Amino acid sequence: MIALGCDHGGYELKQEIIKYLEEHNLEYKDFGCDSMDSTDYPIYAKRVAIAVQSGDCEKGILVCGTGIGISITANKFKGIRAALCSDCFSAEATRLHNNANILAMGGRVVGPGLAIKIVDTFLNTPFSEDERHIRRIKMIEEDTDIADVNPEI
Ligand code: RB5
Repeated sequence: MIALGCDHGGYELKQEIIKYLEEHNLEYKDFGCDSMDSTDYPIYAKRVAIAVQSGDCEKGILVCGTGIGISITANKFKGIRAALCSDCFSAEATRLHNNANILAMGGRVVGPGLAIKIVDTFLNTPFSEDERHIRRIKMIEEDTDIADVNPEI
């Protein structure tokens, strides 16, 4: 199950993504918004982040104008790794290396053709399961005091 969310800046692109998901018989839950009327992206980023964090949805896709606000918000949630992507290389790498569980995009940044290829890459690339990537993902979640950071890293 894929959680979808957008604000007004991402609404049109989200409709394209829905078309893609339906054509590929992929299940999704749409957490809004439902029109191009101006709204606040944190509402939808939070809903999608909670759906993924709780395990209710396996992955999420968030779209706002730039993809920035919506990814910043989602990444405040423990266990959420939201990756803002505008190209397929990053979408593939963030699955392989970061095991990203939310894809964020900018509806005013990427056109629909490229966006759908990014979605396809994100959804079809498995996590590498490499030890070094598992270690680094664990480190993201560790409570890190600034004084504990090794300057040699
Ligand atoms: C809305 O105008 C815009 O600020 C929003 O979609 C997003 O780009 C924020 O990061």
